[in-house]
Amino acid sequence: MSDTNRLLFDFIRRSPTPFHVVQALSERLQAAGYIPLPETVSWQLQPGGAYYVTRNGSSLIAFRIPSGDWSGFLITASHSDSPTFQVKENGELAGPEGYLRLNTEPYGGMLMAPWLDRPLSLAGRVAVRLADGTIASRLVDLDRDLLVIPSVAIHLRRDANKGAALDPKTDLVPLLGLDQPKGCLKKLAAQAAGVEEQDLLSTELFLYLRQTGTVLGAGGELIAAPRLDDLQCVYGCLEGFLQSREQGCLPLYAVFDNEEVGSATKQGADSTFLSDILRRICAASGRDLPAAAAASLMLSADNAHAVHPNHPEYADTDNRPRLNGGVVIKRTASQRYATDGLSAALFSEICRRAQVPVQHLTNRSDLPGGSTLGNIANTHVSLPTADIGLPQLAMHSVYETAGAADTDYLIRAVAAFYSTPLRCSGDGTYRI
Ligand code: CO
Repeated sequence: MSDTNRLLFDFIRRSPTPFHVVQALSERLQAAGYIPLPETVSWQLQPGGAYYVTRNGSSLIAFRIPSGDWSGFLITASHSDSPTFQVKENGELAGPEGYLRLNTEPYGGMLMAPWLDRPLSLAGRVAVRLADGTIASRLVDLDRDLLVIPSVAIHLRRDANKGAALDPKTDLVPLLGLDQPKGCLKKLAAQAAGVEEQDLLSTELFLYLRQTGTVLGAGGELIAAPRLDDLQCVYGCLEGFLQSREQGCLPLYAVFDNEEVGSATKQGADSTFLSDILRRICAASGRDLPAAAAASLMLSADNAHAVHPNHPEYADTDNRPRLNGGVVIKRTASQRYATDGLSAALFSEICRRAQVPVQHLTNRSDLPGGSTLGNIANTHVSLPTADIGLPQLAMHSVYETAGAADTDYLIRAVAAFYSTPLRCSGDGTYRI
């Protein structure tokens, strides 16, 4: 296994929820000398300084202030969340016949069937009351095989292989135990948070698959892991960001929560988080935000559909990414992807110089396809943007498949992007 894939799998294993993604990123950034900035105070930013900010504990923005002059921002944006199921308040269901189950609701648009018959666990954030009366949040990860969502046997449901519908309120209810008392979930959560049960005030717990990433294929050319969408881009963009060198633009790395539920939250791409941080950086640096934004380039990095081996008919005839074919540039006429001809050309040229292959994705003309961060963030602060991603199969399954070589391509492309001395003349001419 390559070092990159080993480190990617380790990052995914440590990141069962967006809260844990931000914790893992914060640890990596602090080890690299980045200083945490609370949103609640005014900032003194030093030339040559490296900083990061979090919002809600589930979104993060890191940046470096160049020591010399700079014109615009070079930004990557990816997302920390993946489709899952959230446990409801008062989430224990007693019965039938001694079973104890959990009442959950879907978070995002997942493929449901792959969640059946897998060892699942719970992780998330809880609010606790401390001894001095303060209220604090704690990350929890029960981190053991704890739950299962059992299928109905084929003998009892003969149409199970004929596209039988799965209903989240009946078919996707996870089993927590047998002959266990009600209240055992709270006891487990309090133990994981290190508090007494009466001091556990509120929970945000999500199901996750504990299975680790693995290398597949006759020549080890494939990888499979949970949450590749979008932790493969979160990880690849971070490594490229940390490896890049100064070049006269301000490098900024953004990770947003809640992409899978439409981004319209206080910490999502459809919030003021990015524009607030850009405004504060410009204010601290004596710069005009609209001018800096117009001289910027953003990569909205979210995974892309590779052509499917069993269903190639879902792909476009020509713009159909293949695994290990390099970084994907995504475009749609509907503008649900923010790429335009100029941003596509700029990113392609950066990749060409870095000897990273690029490939193109367009939707089959009768399919709407997905949407992502770039065009949503652009409604708050307009930034020339390319939508990119890595090719993968089984997007929004609980265990997804991708190419073993592609994460390295993304890291190299992003490092080259952040190292580009981008200059925009104002008449649509770019020098890179
Ligand atoms: Co995604």
